[in-house]
Amino acid sequence: MAVDQFDLFCAVREREWPYKPVILAPMAGVTDLPFRRVVRHFGTHMVFSEMVASQAVIRTVKRTGQMMEMNNDQCTAVQLVGADPKIMAYAAALVCNMGVRHININFGCPVRKVVNTDAGSAIMKDERRAASIMEAVVRAVNVPVSVKMRLGWDDAHMNAKAIAKIAEGSGIAMITVHGRTRQQMFAGKANWAAIAEIKGAVSIPVVVNGDITDVTTARTALVESGADGIMIGRGALGSPWILSEIQDAINQPNMPNAQTTPHQGITLCSTTATMRIQTAKTHADYMFEFYEPRTAIHISRRVVGYYLKWLPNIAHCRRMLSSLNSRDQINELLDTLLARIGVQ
Ligand SMILES: Cc1cc2nc3c(=O)[nH]c(=O)nc-3n(C[C@H](O)[C@H](O)[C@H](O)COP(=O)(O)O)c2cc1C
Repeated sequence: MAVDQFDLFCAVREREWPYKPVILAPMAGVTDLPFRRVVRHFGTHMVFSEMVASQAVIRTVKRTGQMMEMNNDQCTAVQLVGADPKIMAYAAALVCNMGVRHININFGCPVRKVVNTDAGSAIMKDERRAASIMEAVVRAVNVPVSVKMRLGWDDAHMNAKAIAKIAEGSGIAMITVHGRTRQQMFAGKANWAAIAEIKGAVSIPVVVNGDITDVTTARTALVESGADGIMIGRGALGSPWILSEIQDAINQPNMPNAQTTPHQGITLCSTTATMRIQTAKTHADYMFEFYEPRTAIHISRRVVGYYLKWLPNIAHCRRMLSSLNSRDQINELLDTLLARIGVQ
C-alpha cells in the first residue's frame, strides 16, 4: 500500500518511523513518473521529482506539469528550483494545491544554466537569500519542506553546516547533503564524513547522498556521516530495486522483508538477467503510457540501455537499441533477449 508522503515525513521527523529511509534522488531528465513508478513498485517509499523551475510552475508550462505528475499515490516530493523567495513560495503553494504532500528546495544544482540565474548551488553563496527562500516556502505551505544541498560552493566555502542551522530555524523538516562542493560537480569521491558535522549541528533528520550504489557503500556512508537516511541517484539507473534492497539490509531486523511488499507484477527475486530485462519491459511500458510515442521511443532507448549495460555480451544489442523506432521493436528486442536466456 502506498505510504502517504506527508504522514511518512512527519513520522521520520518525529523519530516515529523506525527505519532509515532510502530515498530516490531528484534527477532532471531521469526521475520522471515512469521511473518513479518502477522504483516505487520495488517497495521504496520516498521518491523525488525532477527539479521544476519555480518560474515555470507559475507559467504552468506543459512539460512542467508532466514532471510533477504523481500517479495519485502522494509519495512524490516535488523539488523546486529558483532564486526569488516570493516566486518559490507561490510555486510551492500552487503545487500543494495540486495535492503534493512534500516540497523540496534545490540548493545543490551545479549546472551553469541554473547557477547563472543565482539558483541551485549558487544560493549557498548567499546565506541571507537561502534563509529568505526557506522561510517564504515554509510559510506558504502546510506540508513538510525539505532542502537538498551540497557541502558548499568550493573547498574555501564549505558552509553546509551554517545553512543547515538556518534551515532548522526556518522550519525545514529534513536536509539532504550531497557530499561534494559545487566546484567538484561530480568529480572525486563524495565526502560522507563531512556530513557528520552537519548532522551534529541540527536535530532535524539529515540524509547522506553521493556515490551510494549498494549495501556496502550504504553502510559505510551511514557510519561515516551518522545520517538518518540515504538518498540514491545514479545507482538506481538500470537497477531500480537497489533502493529497497538497501532499505531492507540497513534496517534489519526491523524492516519487513521487501518480498512481502506488493510489487504490482514485478517479481523481486534477485538481480538476474531475467529480472533486468523484465523490468526494462515494464519501464518501457510505463513510458509509452505516459509520453506521446516519439518521446517515449526516444527516452526508452536510453532507459533500456541502462538495464542492458549490466548484461554480459550485450554490446550488439545496445547498438541495435539506438536504431529502434517503435514500441513493438523495443519489445521484440527485449523478448529476443529473454528467449536467449531461456524465458518465454
Ligand atoms: C542526470 C542527473 C540529473 C540530476 N538532477 C538533479 C535535480 O534535478 N535536482 C537535484 O537536486 N539534484 C540533481 N542531480 C543530483 C542527484 O540528485 C544526486 O545529488 C547526485 O547524483 C549524487 O548522488 P548519486 O551519486 O547517488 O548519483 C542530478 C544528477 C544526475 C546524474
